[in-house]
Amino acid sequence: MVSARKRLPMTRMPAACLPSMCRSPASPNRVLLAILRDRATPCNSRHRHEDADQGIQFAYPTGESSMNAIATPAATHAKATAVFTCVLAALAGLMFGLDIGVISGATQFIQRDFAISDHMVEWIVSGMMFGAAMGALLAGWMSAALGRKRSLILGAVLFVVGSLLCGFAWSPYTLIAARVVLGLAIGISTFTAPLYLAEVAPEFIRGAMVSLYQLMITIGILVAFLSDTAFSYSGNWRLMLGVIAIPGVLFLFGVFFLPDSPRWLMMRNREAEALDVLQQLRGNPDAVTREANEIKEQLRTPQRGWHLFLENSNFRRSVGLGVLLQLMQQFTGMNVVMYYAPRIFKDMGYDTTSQMWFTAIVGLTNVLATFIAIGLIDKWGRKPILYTGFAVMAIGLGVVGAMMGMGAVSHAMQLFTVGMLLVFIVGFAMSAGPLIWTLCSEVQPLKGRDFGIGCSTFTNWIANMIVGATFLTLLNSVGHTETFWLYAALNLVFIGLTFWLVPETKGVTLEHIERNLMSGRKLRDIGQ
Ligand code: BGC
Repeated sequence: MVSARKRLPMTRMPAACLPSMCRSPASPNRVLLAILRDRATPCNSRHRHEDADQGIQFAYPTGESSMNAIATPAATHAKATAVFTCVLAALAGLMFGLDIGVISGATQFIQRDFAISDHMVEWIVSGMMFGAAMGALLAGWMSAALGRKRSLILGAVLFVVGSLLCGFAWSPYTLIAARVVLGLAIGISTFTAPLYLAEVAPEFIRGAMVSLYQLMITIGILVAFLSDTAFSYSGNWRLMLGVIAIPGVLFLFGVFFLPDSPRWLMMRNREAEALDVLQQLRGNPDAVTREANEIKEQLRTPQRGWHLFLENSNFRRSVGLGVLLQLMQQFTGMNVVMYYAPRIFKDMGYDTTSQMWFTAIVGLTNVLATFIAIGLIDKWGRKPILYTGFAVMAIGLGVVGAMMGMGAVSHAMQLFTVGMLLVFIVGFAMSAGPLIWTLCSEVQPLKGRDFGIGCSTFTNWIANMIVGATFLTLLNSVGHTETFWLYAALNLVFIGLTFWLVPETKGVTLEHIERNLMSGRKLRDIGQ
C-alpha cells in the first residue's frame, strides 16, 4: 500500500479520479488499484484545491442549514449504505469464486451418471468460461446503456437460473447450456459489480471493501471446494451445482436495495438524480459537491479506444501487452488445478474422500497465499514477484510431472507430490493471480483504458476456456508428466517474457507510464 502514496506528484487529473478505473471492465485488483490511488490523499486534496480555484461546478440544491439539520440521519443512512456495499462486494466476490471452484468436485459424479467421455467433461467445464467471455463483452455495453444496477439484477437473475438449470440438467448438453448461462451471469456480474462498487463505496470503507472483495474470490473457491467435499459423500453433483443459487438469490435481493450509480446517472445527463443519490450515499453536502465535480471532470476525458487502437501503434502495443499478460496468467496452468484438482489427486492414487479433502486444502492454500501478494506488492515491485512466482510454479509443476511419471511408489512420495502441487498454488496466488490484473490496468493510457482492459479481460476468459477445454485431452494423449512439464516450461518462458516485455510499474504515476508509452519507449521501460 506504500507505493500508492509514492505516486506523487501528479501532473494532471489525479489518478485517484481516473474515470476508467471506475468505468472499465473490472477486476478486484483493478478496483484495488483505483482505491489505493483514492487514498493518495495529497493528490485528492490538490484536486479539491483546483476545484476551488475553478469555481464549483455543482452546488447541492438544498441550503446549508437544511443539510445540517439532516446530518445525523443522513450519516446513519450513509453508514447503512456502506454496510450494504460491503455485503454486495462480498457476495459478488464469493459468486465469482464459487463458480470457478464448484465444478471441480462435481465432474467425476457427472461423468459417472451421464457416462460421458473426458472430452464432454471438458466442454461442461469450459462452457462457463465461454459464457463469461460473452457476458463480459455484453456487460460493457449493458452497464453503459442499461446502467450498473439493472445489469447487476440481470446478472443475478441469470446466476440463479443458471445454477438451478445446472442442478436440474437432464443431459450433458443441457448441462453445457446451463453452464453457458451461468458463465453469462459471471461475465456480467464480475464486470459490473466492482465497477459499481468503485462508483458508490464511501471513501472510508473503500480500502476494506476491496480487500474483502479480493479475498472473497479465493474464499468462494474454498467454500465451493468444501461444499463439494460435503456433497461428495452422497455423490450428489446436482446439489453441488444447484446450491450456489442461494448466494445468487441473496445477491439479487441485495442489488434491489441499492441505488443507481451516481456516475452512470451523470453519464446519462441525469444530474439532479445523481446529486440525490450522492446525498443518500455520503450524507454530507460538501462531499457531494466535491464528488460531483470530480465525476464531471473525469467524464471530460472521453473513451475512444477503438479509434485510438486503429490510429495509434503505441496504444496497440499496450493493448497487446495486456492481452499477453492475461495469456501468461492463464497458461501458468492455475485453472487446471482449480477445475480438475480431484482428478489430479485421483491420478496420484488417492480415493474419493482424500481427493476432495486435498482439493479443499488447495483452496485454503490459495486463500492464505493471497496474503503474501498483498504484503509484498508494494515492497518488492511487480517484476521480482512475477519472477519468483513463475519460478516457483515451474519448479512445483516440474516436480509434480516427474513424480506422476514415476507413479505412486510410496505414501511419502505421494504426499510429497501433493505438497509440490501446493507449492505451485502458492506461486500463483502470491504473484500472477493478483498482479496480472493490476498490471493490465496500469499499462493502458487513459483515453483507451476501457477498451484496453476490455481486451485483456476478454482474453482472460478465452484463455481460461482453452486451458479448461484441453487439460484432459492432453492427459489422455501426451500423458501426465508431459502435460505438467508443458505448463512448467511455459512458466519458464514467462520469466523471459517478463524480463523482456513487462514494465516495472511500482511507485510510478500512471501519467508517467502513459507518456513513456506514447513516446514510443520500449514496453519494458515505460515504468522508468
Ligand atoms: C484468475 C482466475 C483464477 C483465480 C484463482 C484469478 O486471478 O483470473 O482465472 O481461477 O485467480 O484464484
